[in-house]
Amino acid sequence: MGAVLGALLGALLAVAAADADAQEARATDAGSAAGGSVTAPLITNVAGRLTTTLDGRWQTIVDPFENGYYNYRHRADPNGYFRNHASTGSADLVEYDFGRSPQLAVPGDWNTQREDLRWYEGTVWYKTSFVRALAPGRRLFVHFGAANYEARAWLNGTELGVHEGGFTPFDFELTRLVRPGANDLVVKVDNRRRPEAIPTVNSDWWNYGGLTRDVTLVETPATFVRDYTLQLDRAHPDRARGWVQLDGPAPRTPVTVRIPGVRLAETVTPDSSGRAALSVDATRLARWSPARPTLYDVEVATAAETVRDRIGFRTIAVRGTEILLNGRPVFLRGISVHEEAPYEARRAYSRDDARVLLGWVHDLGGNFVRLAHYPHNEAMLRAADEMGLLVWAEVPVYWTIQWENPATLASAEQQLGDMITRDRNRAAVVLWSVANETPRDPNPESGPRLTFLRALVARARLLDSTRLVTAALEHRYADPTTIAIDDPLGRSLDVIGNNEYLGWYDGSPAKADSIRWTSAFDKPLVMSEFGGDARQGLHGPAGERWTEEYQANLYEHQMAMLRRIPFLAGMTPWILKDFRSPRRPLPGIEDYFNRKGLVSDRGERKQAFEVLRRFYEERRAARPDPAP
Ligand code: GCU
Repeated sequence: MGAVLGALLGALLAVAAADADAQEARATDAGSAAGGSVTAPLITNVAGRLTTTLDGRWQTIVDPFENGYYNYRHRADPNGYFRNHASTGSADLVEYDFGRSPQLAVPGDWNTQREDLRWYEGTVWYKTSFVRALAPGRRLFVHFGAANYEARAWLNGTELGVHEGGFTPFDFELTRLVRPGANDLVVKVDNRRRPEAIPTVNSDWWNYGGLTRDVTLVETPATFVRDYTLQLDRAHPDRARGWVQLDGPAPRTPVTVRIPGVRLAETVTPDSSGRAALSVDATRLARWSPARPTLYDVEVATAAETVRDRIGFRTIAVRGTEILLNGRPVFLRGISVHEEAPYEARRAYSRDDARVLLGWVHDLGGNFVRLAHYPHNEAMLRAADEMGLLVWAEVPVYWTIQWENPATLASAEQQLGDMITRDRNRAAVVLWSVANETPRDPNPESGPRLTFLRALVARARLLDSTRLVTAALEHRYADPTTIAIDDPLGRSLDVIGNNEYLGWYDGSPAKADSIRWTSAFDKPLVMSEFGGDARQGLHGPAGERWTEEYQANLYEHQMAMLRRIPFLAGMTPWILKDFRSPRRPLPGIEDYFNRKGLVSDRGERKQAFEVLRRFYEERRAARPDPAP
């Protein structure tokens, strides 16, 4: 018995040590100090390039104790699961074998593919192989749509780099590592939550881990068009301005931008850094809008390649408490959305997922969607472009972040930058949000939270001068019936977001009837969250929580209150669809779902859906969407 106990104790101590080491390893790991990442500069618009998908079933090894990485990281042991050893004979001790290991679908979270991984937080190793003959002078990259949370990759046993951030794309260059025959791509994905990360350890959504979005090989010429942007100049909308960025040994290669639909072509010669400014006549470009979401084929070409995109041209601005789309006031009839599939609670990733979810927004009579609380998959943004839905896009600077940790700020800035880089050519995106419900500092005028968030606002403006910047703020009661919106961060924002839960966390639904709202800012307000829970199919008196009737009644009182806010320019009730959350255990009602959806996790509508739809019908009649 003693030997067994000793072994057990030893094992427990080893686990504790490994976990401490794992924490220390993460903290000191040069490549990934919370926001660091060693990846290639982001390649935008992968869909418009020469690509090969690596989506499919990858072999996987679940590794909660970092057994496949620990010695490599700490003891300079060259071996690890990334070596993908195949046993070369009975003398070798090799205790893993991808070839005989279970598979997981990529893209896809691991939590909903295998019941034993439903709650798993740790490392899963992924491996696939591909054959690629790469001609001289050509370059090859691997592009990941996202991986939650930290991803470290190897090709044929050589480490490519590491990326942090669960919702933004990243690339590694493979050019000099590709070999004849099979190439082994191994990726270590670790979804453990970390205090210093973005988001931090506490959130009200499921910590889906894995290669949650597409993985794609991208082939380019030696010098290629890595990035570009083109959008109407807000101040001079008869011009569309932007720039193009080349990557490679011949940075001054001439670039031609074409919009065949209006017979426009403009050739520019980049400078020694590969960058060239763009300015084209926009007088013949029809404006993109929800009423008429016009997208133009845009080609960005050198002699060696043509990158094809579809871009909408519009302006977005504010005037006092109004939001102006193409110079005309627009009311944002929206709804908040988490990135979960419409009929099954898993990470959404496909065009079909996007078109069903956004189709429901159209059914509500909506023209707007808040993609909470992190950058959604690119299919969602392209569907919004095509379907004419304005978008509030957001980074997961959520609740209590380590405001004074430079690595945390670096991670937030990287994720914000990658989101803007990926989506700045999507006309649908009109708002960049830098935060959600971040509690004010003790000294709200000068604390570390304000400093952190103002840095993010500045970065958003630096990266994109064509859009508006916002954040979902918290309010305070000036007196029992007056709610004041006066978070000092509001001075740095174009549009004020505010979350409120009158009738759910704050009093009864009828409390909303007596509330007066004030704002310290002459700026548009988007009520970025409100609502309450209901179990779909549960019915009872309107005073009984969790019934559909309670939720519908709450919405009725909310609509009456919102009508009385003169500076209200939009709203995104919480939330389109029930979603998984580890914070919602109530048996028979929540069952680890947040039930504030207007639609259940199986796609069944609740009574409150119709209450909101009627309200939006009334709002649209009162203020039709501005026709371009
Ligand atoms: C907050 C938070 C949401 C959360 C919601 C709720 O407003 O922003 O992420 O899900 O409250 O409590 O349902």
